[in-house]
Amino acid sequence: MRRPIIAGNWKMNKTNREARELAKSIIQKMATSSPLPEVVLCPPFTALETVKGVINGQRIELGAQNAFWENEGAYTGEISPNMLLTVGCRYVILGHSERRKYFSENDQTVNRKIKAVVSVGLSPILCVGERLEEREKGRTEALVDQQLRGALKGLSREEIENLVVAYEPIWAIGTGKTATPEQAAEVHGFIRNLISQLYDEKTSEELRIIYGGSVKPENARDLFSQPQIDGGLVGGASLQADSFWQIINSYPMGD
Ligand code: PGA
Repeated sequence: MRRPIIAGNWKMNKTNREARELAKSIIQKMATSSPLPEVVLCPPFTALETVKGVINGQRIELGAQNAFWENEGAYTGEISPNMLLTVGCRYVILGHSERRKYFSENDQTVNRKIKAVVSVGLSPILCVGERLEEREKGRTEALVDQQLRGALKGLSREEIENLVVAYEPIWAIGTGKTATPEQAAEVHGFIRNLISQLYDEKTSEELRIIYGGSVKPENARDLFSQPQIDGGLVGGASLQADSFWQIINSYPMGD
């Protein structure tokens, strides 16, 4: 049984004060005894410690939005996996399409980052996904194949035990366009298959694959009703407690 996971990617939003307020409001909404998916908040680096202080002891995990591939040294402006671990993170988003687009990240750098992150015991949330032109040319699977093989190169089965893969079609990120549940489920199935080829059946069955790209309260239930979709990586709609909570609450927990 895979435990569903809903992660909020706050991107470059929220000052410390705003982050504290948002985390508090999410906790209030989550004050229910019913089973919920695993919930992860990924604020900007500057708010990690603040948010950790608020969510300590609650049913919420902390995640970062990026990490460097070394643990210390002369790398001005970078943040290391060990620093994230010691501030209380469990997860790190890696290879987000915005990082690939604006900061020249590629499969090789993502691969180095995944290795560094898992070596300190953090769980990577690896983002993959195609651009619209690639989908239109029927290259979605080829691209996702390349991204996954590149990102996971040289990683053992044990090292990817806590990996989460986020399928995020780039054309759906922040655009209001969402992949249909069927489109998403198809790629999720492809990813699971590939993992079983690269590793084994058990690893692929246990891997959590989440969908990202304009997940909203209005479409969350349909997306999450697909058995291949183990949760969501939520950008815009995670910036408000109300909409984020509605998305969390849309996950069909055993119903
Ligand atoms: P969005 O972002 O929900 O605003 O589309 C998702 C993401 O980039 O992770």
